[in-house]
Amino acid sequence: MRTTLAMSQTPGKILITGGAGFVGAHLAERLLHDRWAVRILDNFSPQVHGGAGPESLPAAIRKECEIQVGSVVSAAAMERALQGVRTVAHLAAAVGVGQSMYRIRDYCRANMQGTAQLLQAILQLRKRGQEPPRLLVASSMSIYGEGSYVCRGCGPMRPAPRGRDQLERGEWELRCPGCGRALASEATDEAKPADPQSIYAIGKLSQEQMVLTFARAYGVPGIALRFFNIYGPRQALSNPYTGVVAIFCARARAGEPMTLYEDGEQQRDFVAIEDVVEACALALGSEDASGAYNIGSGRRITIRRVAEEVAAALQTPARIETSGRYRVGDIRHCRADISRARKELGYEPRVGLTAGLRQLAEWISESAAPSAPVANAAAELRAYGLGG
Ligand code: UD1
Repeated sequence: MRTTLAMSQTPGKILITGGAGFVGAHLAERLLHDRWAVRILDNFSPQVHGGAGPESLPAAIRKECEIQVGSVVSAAAMERALQGVRTVAHLAAAVGVGQSMYRIRDYCRANMQGTAQLLQAILQLRKRGQEPPRLLVASSMSIYGEGSYVCRGCGPMRPAPRGRDQLERGEWELRCPGCGRALASEATDEAKPADPQSIYAIGKLSQEQMVLTFARAYGVPGIALRFFNIYGPRQALSNPYTGVVAIFCARARAGEPMTLYEDGEQQRDFVAIEDVVEACALALGSEDASGAYNIGSGRRITIRRVAEEVAAALQTPARIETSGRYRVGDIRHCRADISRARKELGYEPRVGLTAGLRQLAEWISESAAPSAPVANAAAELRAYGLGG
């Protein structure tokens, strides 16, 4: 049975670290609507915000949230941000998977050191009599590495990632190490052992484990939401290290082709920001949620189909190119098994990809969303020998 916070109870003050980011700002709006008192701590990283500050945030957030500009790695900023809060949604992170492979120190600092600082600051305040807050941390499907698979002959498989020589040969699908058959992808549940394939993913796994371990030790609820591929309005199109939907939108708008890596038949689970925010609200409103939950749509789609859907949503005759190139560390297929979130949080994704992309396209056409040169991210990966 699920227990939710009683409607009469005011939910109190929440700190959202990274609250000016894509997920954070949507969550802030939703929690304001649900009568939370929302404080944001964000460093307004130029890669995400293009040099803009709090003035660029939606009006409701500017008016009703307390916005603190600062970094999670600063002890002083963290302690200030935690004053009087009953709940923390820790979303602040550096999020470029490819970039994490050559800016290793920066990523470890923002993601691991930042989380360490959060937990340390909570203990500082505890010494002064403040109860440790409930904790929700943004984790990621990236911690799984490859998704779960099945071999028709040999049964369920959790294969190792593809080696560079396999990618060089253009053999994109995973094969059964026993009989050599191509493996079929299956929904991935939370029991799949972690197998992170990037510094970003290692950071996400560390964040998750640090928060859940701390929560258990100090007797507060701790929740990690493993987000799959999130997309939606206000995604930073100008950030070349963001996900494929943003990259495709930026390229299509700029009249450039959308480039499919591999053969474009790799599959992912794309989840709309609205559903992600609903999952967060459900988790934060639950009395007994704890541990890790997959948050996706539960549906698989190929990247080629995503490109076609983006072109349709933007109503542009965009070109789609199959490059045969690859990125080291890319997985082939991963889709969420969302049974646990359904059962324990009452989570039910509602926005299909076509409708979700239409919302994104509307925002793009209404806003002066910048169209960005995204070629440099791929070029940088190749310069470090991380792309073929
Ligand atoms: C990764 C992370 C995920 C993170 C997301 C966004 C992994 C396993 N997952 O997901 O946690 O939330 O990045 O930062 O590391 N693609 C193209 N053309 C492009 C760009 C991408 O074909 O121009 C393909 C990629 O090869 C990949 C798929 O699209 O197969 C999705 O890529 P991306 O959006 O970067 O996300 P993931 O790698 O799935």
